Amino acid sequence: MAAQTAVTPANLKLFSLVILIVQTTALVLTLRYSRTQSGTKYLSSTAVVLAEILKFFTCIFVLLRNHSYRWSSFQSEVHQEIFSSQQKVMDALKVAVPAVLYVIQNNLLFFALSKLDAATYQVTYQLKILTTAFFSVVLLSKSLNLALVQMPSDDSKKTVEHDSSDSLLGLGAVLLACFSSGFAGVYFEKILKGSQVSLWIRNLELAFFSIFGGFFMCWLYDWEAIQLDGFLQGYNRIIWVVVFLQAYGGLVIALVVKYADNILKGFAVSLSIILSSFMSWLLLNDFTPSVMFAVGATIVILSTFLYGYEPHQYRPIHSA
Ligand code: C5P
Repeated sequence: MAAQTAVTPANLKLFSLVILIVQTTALVLTLRYSRTQSGTKYLSSTAVVLAEILKFFTCIFVLLRNHSYRWSSFQSEVHQEIFSSQQKVMDALKVAVPAVLYVIQNNLLFFALSKLDAATYQVTYQLKILTTAFFSVVLLSKSLNLALVQMPSDDSKKTVEHDSSDSLLGLGAVLLACFSSGFAGVYFEKILKGSQVSLWIRNLELAFFSIFGGFFMCWLYDWEAIQLDGFLQGYNRIIWVVVFLQAYGGLVIALVVKYADNILKGFAVSLSIILSSFMSWLLLNDFTPSVMFAVGATIVILSTFLYGYEPHQYRPIHSA
């Protein structure tokens, strides 16, 4: 009889990490490509909000499926988990904090990828490993071994032709996004692991608040343009792929945080640097890797290994 592969948390952890590597690479490349296309530019604030709407309906779909598509049973879970006590309502409201941060962060990343090439963006965004580690220690009281993270050297950027003020703006946006990513990621992990409420209910709450935050950003930055040329101006197939990757990537991240943690998530994303840099060079002709870039990327990846590495507990070996 053929042995069946059991779905264990360890399998899910590996599976979600592999999916995350593929998703991150695909998202960074398509997003960068979408920002460098000629013709009518799409509004990134609308892409962020559409991804949140997609996440919201996906969460409803998954929850409904868990209830064998019985609406009343789904409704009673939502009521039980969110509205049944004041404590639960307060708990749900806490999700608004990472929701608002993620909306700002997602908008910043669209901006950064219109200023920086995919590889430079990926490597500098790795600084979020440090901010995540910092907030993991502060908010989750995790203890971590010291590891080294290196920013890409200037030489790695010499190969890229960019206006230097553009690059500075892009780097500034990435820096802000790193802080948001670290805090929001760890705060969400704390909420997720600190109660029995299911991942999908938490994601539903996150998407719900993010939709409001996302529309607010559309109004703040692009209201005039939206009134003039519509919400979906400049959309083509590539932009829809970006919206889908952004939405489902977010949900994969939620799975990684549940089955692994935020630091291992950083490790998965680091591996995607190698893939993105290689594909960016191959497909977008956007970036030529230099020796210094390779050295910088290797150091970042090694650092992530050090963070992700959990020494085995010593266990005495018993004879059978
Ligand atoms: O780079 P970082 O890992 O911080 O990116 C987090 C991304 O995942 C954001 O785009 C955020 O909107 C999304 N996310 C999500 N659902 C979660 C956690 C994160 O959609 N539960």
